[in-house]
Amino acid sequence: MRVLILGCGYVGIALGRHLQAQGHEVFGLRRSVAGAAELASHGLPSLLGDVTDPSSLDALPRDFDWVANTVSSSRGDAEVYRQVYQQGTRHVLQWLRQTRCHRYVYTSSTSVYGQTDGSVVTEDAPTEPTSETAQVLVATERDLQAAAATLPLAIGIFRVTGLYGPQRGHLYHQLLRGEARLQGDGSRLINMIHRDDAAAALASFLTGSTAKGGCRVYNATDDAPVTQREFFTWLSHRLNLPFPGPASAADGTLSKRGQTQKRVSNQRLRTELAWIPRYPTFREGYETLISGPQS
Ligand SMILES: NC(=O)c1ccc[n+]([C@@H]2O[C@H](COP(=O)([O-])OP(=O)(O)OC[C@H]3O[C@@H](n4cnc5c(N)ncnc54)[C@H](OP(=O)(O)O)[C@@H]3O)[C@@H](O)[C@H]2O)c1
Repeated sequence: MRVLILGCGYVGIALGRHLQAQGHEVFGLRRSVAGAAELASHGLPSLLGDVTDPSSLDALPRDFDWVANTVSSSRGDAEVYRQVYQQGTRHVLQWLRQTRCHRYVYTSSTSVYGQTDGSVVTEDAPTEPTSETAQVLVATERDLQAAAATLPLAIGIFRVTGLYGPQRGHLYHQLLRGEARLQGDGSRLINMIHRDDAAAALASFLTGSTAKGGCRVYNATDDAPVTQREFFTWLSHRLNLPFPGPASAADGTLSKRGQTQKRVSNQRLRTELAWIPRYPTFREGYETLISGPQS
């Protein structure tokens, strides 16, 4: 199949390499020549374009069978989210109408779940986040669901948890630098997924036999949410580093963000798409990162 990955960055490159290894012809879209050079270093041909600029999409070839959208806002504010995710998705949907694409995957986020009660959240759980950025993601998902009814393609929305892997993992790198702090009593739940398992989840929708048409939502996360205390306990023992001290308002390390508390379930992804995580918990994932070569 001919595949285009829009916003072919951390997850997109892993997805591209995964699909290439299966014999598919993969192209990655980036906005800059520097981005294209990064793709070339991974053996991926590139195209230039910007999802916020519909004319740049119109200039692209149209003979793609599958398209993935892994564009990221690079942590912008709500206005940036609107441009990149909501407007960007509308432009991509418009462009898809002119192509032969019959499978499309999009990476959303589990920030769409605003739950604070520690409950297990499946794809059927309410999506009523308080944060404005997450509300934009909910609206974008709605646009995709509405479009699925009018387009001859299968759409997979993947709600991704915190990504980690080579060169990623915010709390891990804070711990390595001696800058990690425990928030409150450390009972905050962390939901994570290794980059390669996220890429494999997207690939399972594109390459599998389940997707027929319409829109289906999947949580993309590993098997076991853990508390911040469990996470730091395992890593500090494994790395022989001190357990982080408490966060405090005085030194500005206390998180000011409104925090959700939830256990994201991957059951649907496992049962419907036969996806099996290579790194079922952060322990297997970080063990590989700590003891193996970085790639
Ligand atoms: N990181 C997380 O923990 C996390 C959690 C939940 C969900 N997600 C979602 O997972 C997806 C993949 O994340 P990631 O970490 O792989 O992102 P990433 O590494 O930042 O890659 C995204 C790529 O998108 C490109 N891009 C940005 N704006 C663009 C635009 N307007 N048009 C075209 N390309 C654009 C960027 O390349 P150029 O700047 O070169 O164009 C970048 O390489 C994203 O949708 C993200 O929101 C991530």
